[in-house]
Amino acid sequence: MELTLGDLWITDWLHLLARWFHLVVGAAWIGASFYFNWLNNNIRPMDDPTGRLAGGLWAVHGGAFYEVRKYKGAPETLPKTLHWFKWEAYLTWISGLTLLMFVYWLQADLMMARPDSGLSPGATTAIGVGALVVGWIVYDLLCKSPLVNHPGLGFVVAGLLLGGSAYGLAQVMSPRAAYIHFGAMMGTMMALNVFFVIIPGQRAMVDAMIKGEPPPLDKGRAGALRSLHNNYFTLPTLFIMVSNHFAFTYGHPMAWAVLIGLSAIGAAVRHWFNVHGKGERNTWILPTAAVAMIALAFVSHGPKAAPAAGAAASAPTFAQVEAILAKHCVQCHAAEPTFAGITAPPKGLLLTDPKQVAGNAALIKQQAVDSQIMPLANTTGMTPEERALLGAWIDAGAHLDD
Ligand code: HEC
Repeated sequence: MELTLGDLWITDWLHLLARWFHLVVGAAWIGASFYFNWLNNNIRPMDDPTGRLAGGLWAVHGGAFYEVRKYKGAPETLPKTLHWFKWEAYLTWISGLTLLMFVYWLQADLMMARPDSGLSPGATTAIGVGALVVGWIVYDLLCKSPLVNHPGLGFVVAGLLLGGSAYGLAQVMSPRAAYIHFGAMMGTMMALNVFFVIIPGQRAMVDAMIKGEPPPLDKGRAGALRSLHNNYFTLPTLFIMVSNHFAFTYGHPMAWAVLIGLSAIGAAVRHWFNVHGKGERNTWILPTAAVAMIALAFVSHGPKAAPAAGAAASAPTFAQVEAILAKHCVQCHAAEPTFAGITAPPKGLLLTDPKQVAGNAALIKQQAVDSQIMPLANTTGMTPEERALLGAWIDAGAHLDD
């Protein structure tokens, strides 16, 4: 593909701004969501001659006192200003899609493709876009199906479908792309839940009130269900978004399983918050999640690459390593990269500099030996033997030749 992020320096700045914006609106969205969850859990019955209140609470914050009331249904009259919370969700989704497009879809040959899948970068991107669309359609249909009356079964079906998509995505695209698309799929469900179900339901309630009609209860119920789902999606989605910066997650040979593990732990922790908020003392969820996390940490170290067949008794020399780096790494990791679209050494890592090679040996081993994240999309066709040689040199202490 011709258009790449690195072609113009200005695109680096736009990328930074887009990422910053995405974080800011995302924080506003999730922050509001957490706050309302917390409100619902802490509202207590209060003195109420009208009989319309579900309860209320007092809070002190930033040097001021606040009183909040929650109504059972609608208030008698609508206030002049009624705040809605929707733009945070829409903007997070739009900025997220923008990032996805610039970082992954427009650099599909580097960021999307999985060399051994036999799919072209374009086809891989089409699958990525399709996953977001199909994911939403299937999810939305399930929410409108009789399954909603069987929460236990619904949970199993949702778990299988989500787990299946994590596995499926990892088969067709680079593991890092699979992670971000899985997160984007859940983020899309969350944002479209707000757009297509939650906000229209609230609007129908307000409209009914203005006309003096009873509020449409079915719409309220549908909105509550989607809100509950969004609640469970928050922590896994955030977890996945940050794990994209930690190669030991998506770099694992069974990256999809790590992804499912991270998502399940995120949802479990969210569940703990929910039951805890209801005043139930649950003693097993958090310890279980902690044990699962520790187990995942151990497993994600992954099997180490086997030593090269007939590995020499003596460690490889740096000259051998340097030849491999020259063949597979310095197109990108040099002061002036020659790889199209890369304008500066990624992460400032100069693999032309022996001192940097030795100093970053552990990181290099993780990226190019234990996992096969580098060279990116294995554009240069690095062989298992070359990886093993690099690993053997690092294991022997990463000594530069005298
Ligand atoms: C096609 C370009 C390209 C090639 C070739 C390439 N890299 Fe990279 N490398 C990158 C990019 C881009 C990043 C930054 C990834 C990110 O944003 O997390 C990176 C990051 C790294 C990192 C730092 C990871 C971190 O989390 O700090 C290491 C280590 C690394 N590469 C090692 C290698 C080695 C070793 C080779 C050769 C075997 C290699 N790379 C070949 C593009 C490349």
